[in-house]
Amino acid sequence: MNGELDAAVGAAEAAGDLLREGFGRQRSIRYKGEVDLVTEMDERAEGAIREALLGAFPDHGMLAEEGGSLSGGGDARWIVDPLDGTTNYAHGLPVFAVSVALERSGEVVLGVVHDPMRGETFVAEKGLGATLNGEALTPTGEEDLARGLVATGFPYDRNNVPAALELFGTLSLRAQGMRRLGAAALDLCYVAAGRLDAYYERGIHAWDVAAGALILEEAGGRITDYRGGPFEVEGGELVASNGPLHGTLLDFTAGRGG
Ligand code: IPD
Repeated sequence: MNGELDAAVGAAEAAGDLLREGFGRQRSIRYKGEVDLVTEMDERAEGAIREALLGAFPDHGMLAEEGGSLSGGGDARWIVDPLDGTTNYAHGLPVFAVSVALERSGEVVLGVVHDPMRGETFVAEKGLGATLNGEALTPTGEEDLARGLVATGFPYDRNNVPAALELFGTLSLRAQGMRRLGAAALDLCYVAAGRLDAYYERGIHAWDVAAGALILEEAGGRITDYRGGPFEVEGGELVASNGPLHGTLLDFTAGRGG
């Protein structure tokens, strides 16, 4: 898998260079929905990744945020978010990342999340652990939600925002702190790195979470759906944690009280 890993890291870093160079400059913005936007840089970064990865691996398919799904004919596909944290980026808030995952026969086997502003590259390969700039990642051992820092995101579909806010309000009274960073791939990597204790979100896409979920699992964290069932890349929801806090979080997300 080394060729694929090197290509994924190279493509994510090249896209990150483009995003960093364009950061803070006025760029054209298009709206996909009421609040869901796409910048010219999303499209340029995705084009660079597509060219690099499909050029090197013409049999691989690709699922990407802006370009949709391309079949390659084989059993492997790249899952790509060229700019996770688009809203932050468009506002000049330097919290965003490039996310590249490789799925083979339905299983994510490689994940790369690159933060060009901090020069941080998170990498995982199935069964081989997870690293940040080459150093092994470990989540926290926190067991007490009252001492935990928990992140979430709010759905673009505003009909689903009230339920998300209710859960956020409940957890705000229990956790040490709640955060909404605006880049799901980084939320997952930060749980893997012990910077956050947990992260949950409903209404999320495969390209936002495919790489970060593998990085968290390989770092030793836990990830499920809202009821504790298996996490599915295209399932649209996830509870991700350091492990010890997982059951407590599920009590809230599954609506079992708290
Ligand atoms: C979004 C971010 C955000 C999350 C949204 C995602 P995008 O990705 O990850 O944190 O709350 O659900 O869609 O649109 O910036 O690639």
